[in-house]
Amino acid sequence: MPTTRTQVGIVGAGPAGLMLGQLLHLADIDSVIVEDRSEEYVIERVRAGVLEQGTVDLMRSTGVGDRLEREGMRHDGIYLRFNDDRHRINMAALTGGRAITIYGQNEVVKDLIGARQASGRPLYFEVSDVSVLDLETEAPRVRFVQGEERHELVCDFIAGCDGSHGVCRPSIPASRVRMYERGYPFAWLGILADAPPASDEIVYSLSERGFALFSMRSTTITRLYLQCAPDENLDAWSDDRIWAELMARLRTTDGWAPNVGPILQKAVAPMRSFVVEPMRYGRLFLAGDAAHIVPPTGAKGLNLAMADVRRLADALQDFFKRGTQHKLDDYSDRGLKRTWRAQRFSWWMTSMLHKQEGDNPFDYRRQLAELDYLVSSQAAMTSLAENYTGTPFD
Ligand code: APR
Ligand code: PHB
Repeated sequence: MPTTRTQVGIVGAGPAGLMLGQLLHLADIDSVIVEDRSEEYVIERVRAGVLEQGTVDLMRSTGVGDRLEREGMRHDGIYLRFNDDRHRINMAALTGGRAITIYGQNEVVKDLIGARQASGRPLYFEVSDVSVLDLETEAPRVRFVQGEERHELVCDFIAGCDGSHGVCRPSIPASRVRMYERGYPFAWLGILADAPPASDEIVYSLSERGFALFSMRSTTITRLYLQCAPDENLDAWSDDRIWAELMARLRTTDGWAPNVGPILQKAVAPMRSFVVEPMRYGRLFLAGDAAHIVPPTGAKGLNLAMADVRRLADALQDFFKRGTQHKLDDYSDRGLKRTWRAQRFSWWMTSMLHKQEGDNPFDYRRQLAELDYLVSSQAAMTSLAENYTGTPFD
């Protein structure tokens, strides 16, 4: 079996694995990325698209920010809609200028794959039978099959960036980790529509009929979501039914409503919160969805992944360039501190903005009162704005 020596073996070519590869490349640290899906699949996978200031700054500082600069849509605020009215939260004014940028996650992945290919460093798509072993030794290994051939990477470290259904986390003995999980009795039915966005910023809505979210991808493409059952049957949702439901949950008394257009893509996404502790086992470091999952209501998933790999790359650089270990040893604790903060915010946004099946009417009125307080209290709005725009990367 051909064996390759590398400093860091990276499993998974999502935003976490690819950005880690770019950061290590810029620090002149070797890495090999293995991905079990095709390049087309990882690029076309439609996901979220809200970038915190820290993620935008990271894309720029690593030389992959040009297209983001041109096509990203900076938003200084968001809207909260309830009782049929929209209320704007001017996050930039409340946070000394911090904002979010709308830029599809698949565009981020496309830019990072381009940078990886330009670097000439190895990125293997469509591998199979990936396994990681000897994680407690100084030479952990990644094994995989490409085509007919088995390959082995002998590494100094392995980065588990293989998402929530990968092989890295399950490779850690159960006795050495603790998992925290919360499910939600609802999911999101998301669509991409060929319709110019009717609002210049995102609209989060709580209505009698449930949650809805208005977002966008460009000046011609609208991205919308509505709360549905976890086991919702997509075939039961004609395009007309989807638009009727979105209108009912988003239209406002001042006549605002999303523009309608052909639906290009639709899918149901489950909602859950998940954290594994610690984020490290021996020479295996978990980053992104491999270590934590947040419900999308707080738009934290991609940004947490970026914060993880920036912290990990910094620690690996210290090890390889300065022979110091302490940042590697702190990686998990510092990562969990940020993770739990994002978990709290994402749970809070989700609980405040979704209708729970069989809810006592008292709960809906309480949610409305919380939203009413939120849009009328500087302190409450500032707390939301701080968390939504994201705290600076540590
Ligand atoms: N071997 C190789 N690659 C694998 C394996 C495996 N056994 N299992 C999964 N992968 C790949 C997946 O195909 C995927 O491309 O790992 C990658 C993990 O990428 P993501 O799931 O995008 O996770 P991450 O990079 O951590 O990014 C987190 O993604 O899901 C969103 O909301 C989430 O925005 C967050 C972001
Ligand atoms: C999106 O634009 O896809 C989006 C926006 C906000 C969220 C989640 C997704 O909370």
